[in-house]
Amino acid sequence: MDSVSSSALGRAFAPSALTHGECARGGAPAPCSLVIFGASGDLTARKLFPALFRLLRGGLLDPRSTVVGVARSGMDDDMFRRRMKQALQDADIFEEDLWGQCAQNLHYHQLHYDSPKEYAALAKRLGQWEAERGDGGNRLFYLATPPAVYGTIAEHLGRSGLARETEEAYARLVVEKPFGHDLPSARALDATLHEAFAEHQIFRIDHYLAKETVQNILLFRFGNAVFEPIWNRRYIASITCASSEKIGVEHRAGYYEHAGVLRDMFQNHMMQILSLVAIEPPALFEADRVRDEKVKVYRALRPFAPERLREHLVLGQYARGVVDGREVPAYREERGVSGSSITPTFAMLTAYVDNWRWQGVPFHIMSGKRLQEKLTRIVITFRDVPHSMFRDVAQGDMAPNRLVVDVAPDNAISLQFQAKVPGAQLCFRPVTMRYDFSAEASGTGLDAYEKVVLDCMLGDQMLFWRQDGVEACWGYLTPILDLCEACGDAEEHLHPYPAGSWGPQASLKTVRTLF
Ligand code: BG6
Repeated sequence: MDSVSSSALGRAFAPSALTHGECARGGAPAPCSLVIFGASGDLTARKLFPALFRLLRGGLLDPRSTVVGVARSGMDDDMFRRRMKQALQDADIFEEDLWGQCAQNLHYHQLHYDSPKEYAALAKRLGQWEAERGDGGNRLFYLATPPAVYGTIAEHLGRSGLARETEEAYARLVVEKPFGHDLPSARALDATLHEAFAEHQIFRIDHYLAKETVQNILLFRFGNAVFEPIWNRRYIASITCASSEKIGVEHRAGYYEHAGVLRDMFQNHMMQILSLVAIEPPALFEADRVRDEKVKVYRALRPFAPERLREHLVLGQYARGVVDGREVPAYREERGVSGSSITPTFAMLTAYVDNWRWQGVPFHIMSGKRLQEKLTRIVITFRDVPHSMFRDVAQGDMAPNRLVVDVAPDNAISLQFQAKVPGAQLCFRPVTMRYDFSAEASGTGLDAYEKVVLDCMLGDQMLFWRQDGVEACWGYLTPILDLCEACGDAEEHLHPYPAGSWGPQASLKTVRTLF
């Protein structure tokens, strides 16, 4: 075989400049009115407005677009602009020149969510700005409010004519999770939204889908010929999908006490990750075809057997502990949390996808707060070799191959395989081949909120939940929630774990597969 110099090899593995260039961003979507309900809240200041500003800076938000903050608080345009300016300064992205351009199209509209008169006034103001812009009047309504008012807002948008689309202009509704509290409430919410908006107008956000590496899962699986043939029960022994956090409940006890980790992380982010790992290849990379395949995965999830509850589900709640060298309180001592709360802050669930490809392969899904590290990672553990010819000579660990997909804090894919330790003896050790996506992303990547807002303006539903998927997941999780919440020994099921640890003892064996 010809010898190849390492620099030639480097070039061979470097991403092609042409491909990268061809994929460079397109232009900005058409101008629109971005109406943010709940604009006096935290989400708008911390995530949404900074995302819009970055889109504007990157040429991905048309500068003629109008951003309208809507909330109950009494504020005028100037006060709102001051707040948003502060938000940009806090995010360390403030730029004087760009701000000048942006502030003139930034407005505030006070509105009580159930006041028809105030929606009519909003419609009038939007009409005026759109007439000044001279376009058809595209409208994006972003609900950054507590979920309790989603239905009311959608209903009034419908009644006031704001949800109406025309040949020239769209009207879209963006909703953040939670989409209901269980299957019946998810259906009820959906029925209300659908009274005013058609399915193609509704964008249900899951910010995990907009993460760079999560978007890469399908590309990795279906854009390469070598991985898909081994992506099944014949070669894969188990899959672990984990999202661990160092933070506790913070200021969200009011919501979290009723949600717990299963509703907060599993009914959305973890289920999306599982589906991307497990789906069959769609015929075309197109929103509905991909979402059709995801729904098939959710429908194939094996219903949870009550008698195997303890074996397949570990629930935990953080006790006092030390995180980053700092003592932190127990969940039950956090502000707004009941001293006898049985809300789980940790869960490890073993799921099975009952189809031809995945029969018998356990999917361990884990998420928790106040754990040792912030880590979102998927680990595919392959089967052992069927027969080891080295059994008489090899020394050292013969570990199975592993493919590790790092979503946060790193953005990378690594493949672990066996290699010989250099030297006279035959001795094994696992080594790693790693590709770091962030290495070439400098300046080109979009953060999750930028990506979702951009896709909403473009009308691309690929990274958003469709209602049948939401319902299929609730259909799977609701019986589990009923089992955990309704049974008399719910407290017994809840394993306390020290903050700063890796969760309850009962799940440590699976947690180890992450490293
Ligand atoms: C949110 C949850 O959807 O995701 C939070 O409500 C959680 O409780 C957050 O902290 C985690 O997101 P990320 O992107 O930090 O992993």
